[in-house]
Amino acid sequence: MLKIAVLISGGGTNLQALINAIEGKELAAEINLVISNKRDAYGLIRAKNHRISTEILDIKKYPLREERQKALLQLLLDHKIDLVVLAGYLDILSEGIIKEYENRIMNIHPSLIPSFSGKGFYGERVHKEAIRRGVKISGATVHFVNEETDGGPIILQEAVAVEFCDDEESLQKKVLALEHKLLPRAVKLFAEGRLKIVDDRVEIINEIES
Ligand code: GRF
Repeated sequence: MLKIAVLISGGGTNLQALINAIEGKELAAEINLVISNKRDAYGLIRAKNHRISTEILDIKKYPLREERQKALLQLLLDHKIDLVVLAGYLDILSEGIIKEYENRIMNIHPSLIPSFSGKGFYGERVHKEAIRRGVKISGATVHFVNEETDGGPIILQEAVAVEFCDDEESLQKKVLALEHKLLPRAVKLFAEGRLKIVDDRVEIINEIES
């Protein structure tokens, strides 16, 4: 069974979507660990409600970023994690972790990458900019993580219409609904061995390779 670690910093609605998919038997995987860099992240309560182990790696415990990242990698290795899912995790992973878990770290981003992505585009800023720019569609992207912020191979994307009356809050709500479908789907494809990376692009293959 695929062992997943989910990294969070906040509400954890995407973590909840993964928990629901697993408990609903749509996804054959196991969340072994939820790690937060924020002590008060509500996602930690969600994990506890489902008896999932949690770890807090915050600035108080590890003031140095380097030490924090070292502890994170050790946790992933100790738990024999196969796939790391960044679900609203607001810290940058060290090169060491990205290398060790090459093509085994996924991130969910609340826009159609490459629009409204990269350095500085996180949280509400993404939707605020989309509204300000007046785009007619936005959406969500699940991608593999490489050393470039939001720059790794794209696994799944889906679009949503942006109406003139939308504001950042209503757009965020629409996009989150998409995210909750896309993330479990991407993890399922990974678990089934159906994601193949070819020249920085992801091919979704229909058959499980032996
Ligand atoms: C989501 O919009 C995700 O795309 C972004 O951070 C947000 C996390 O939301 N990376 P939640 O904590 O899963 O509710």
